[in-house]
Amino acid sequence: MSTPPLGRRLRVFIAGGTGFVGRELVVRLVRTGHSLSLITRDAGHADDLAPLSSVEVAAGDVYSLDFLRTALAGCDVAINLVGILNEPGFNGAGFHHAHVEFTERLLAAMREAGIGRLLQMSALNADAARGRSHYLITKGQAEERVRSATWLDWTIFRPSVIFGPADGLTQRFAGLLRLTAGLLPLARAATRFAPVYVEDVAEAFARALQGTATKRQTYELCGPEVLTLGQIVRLTAQAAGLPCRIWPLPDVLGRLQAAIMDFVPGKPFSTDNYRSLLSDSVCHDDGLKRLGIVPASFSARVPVWLSAARAGRRATP
Ligand SMILES: NC(=O)c1ccc[n+]([C@@H]2O[C@H](COP(=O)([O-])OP(=O)(O)OC[C@H]3O[C@@H](n4cnc5c(N)ncnc54)[C@H](OP(=O)(O)O)[C@@H]3O)[C@@H](O)[C@H]2O)c1
Repeated sequence: MSTPPLGRRLRVFIAGGTGFVGRELVVRLVRTGHSLSLITRDAGHADDLAPLSSVEVAAGDVYSLDFLRTALAGCDVAINLVGILNEPGFNGAGFHHAHVEFTERLLAAMREAGIGRLLQMSALNADAARGRSHYLITKGQAEERVRSATWLDWTIFRPSVIFGPADGLTQRFAGLLRLTAGLLPLARAATRFAPVYVEDVAEAFARALQGTATKRQTYELCGPEVLTLGQIVRLTAQAAGLPCRIWPLPDVLGRLQAAIMDFVPGKPFSTDNYRSLLSDSVCHDDGLKRLGIVPASFSARVPVWLSAARAGRRATP
């Protein structure tokens, strides 16, 4: 099994390509001239991607070896972006299924299909032994599965929180602030992040597809600013022109808020999210710099779409 050479147009398999990061990456790779084999559990999730001429979408049981082998056929490289922020249950089985079992199936199918190159999306603080949440433990276990595949040329990415026009961060907080007239009881408001722009994340993946330099390397991906969660919310409010009065919750109330939200449909916040927030999500290694990417800053980029949305609302009669 070999790594694709520099500059060649590739056939790229993508799992998780229908999500926030995936869509950005699909557009980025199509623009470069690569052709894509994209899998999804539901064809409807790829309605707007399927018409792209160089994107082939397969919908079905993404955990089936047969299904994966078929979608992998003829591909040079695979990208795994599959991830969930919350599970339907509470014991970690849902995280294990999406992060670990999916990675195991993908690795098995890749080996059978003779594909020896994988770009794996993980997260900062992922740690199979010491992760603070099911999310972080299972992301760490998936990394372990990838690293222990001796036949594989892997690259692992560990971003901080990712922002962009369709993110679950600024859009969620802007939505919440609108609902609550700006009053926000916030758990773990002092936890620090280095928000990284989705286009920079997509660029990191795109660069890693070329050549062999990123083989068996792990890249932490961070933006240039370190911001507390409270600062992220304030900057979001400012950009969206919304009032903002944050009530930083002491941990005992933060835990209670999470425990209550565990039972709200769709789990907008959860005990597992709360546990992930117990550690700062900041880089110790500048992965973007190693890839030659100058990252965009949260405070400069976010107003671009949030103030445009605000102008749009004002213009609506
Ligand atoms: N967004 C962030 O701030 C952030 C930060 C650090 C790391 N990450 C990681 O980056 C990756 C992409 O994140 P994102 O924000 O783009 O996520 P997203 O928008 O929620 O997309 C998740 C993708 O995973 C697939 N998926 C979801 N649940 C699945 C399951 N149970 N089994 C198989 N496939 C499933 C979905 O595909 P279908 O529904 O079409 O099947 C979708 O394409 C994830 O691995 C995430 O953990 C994200």
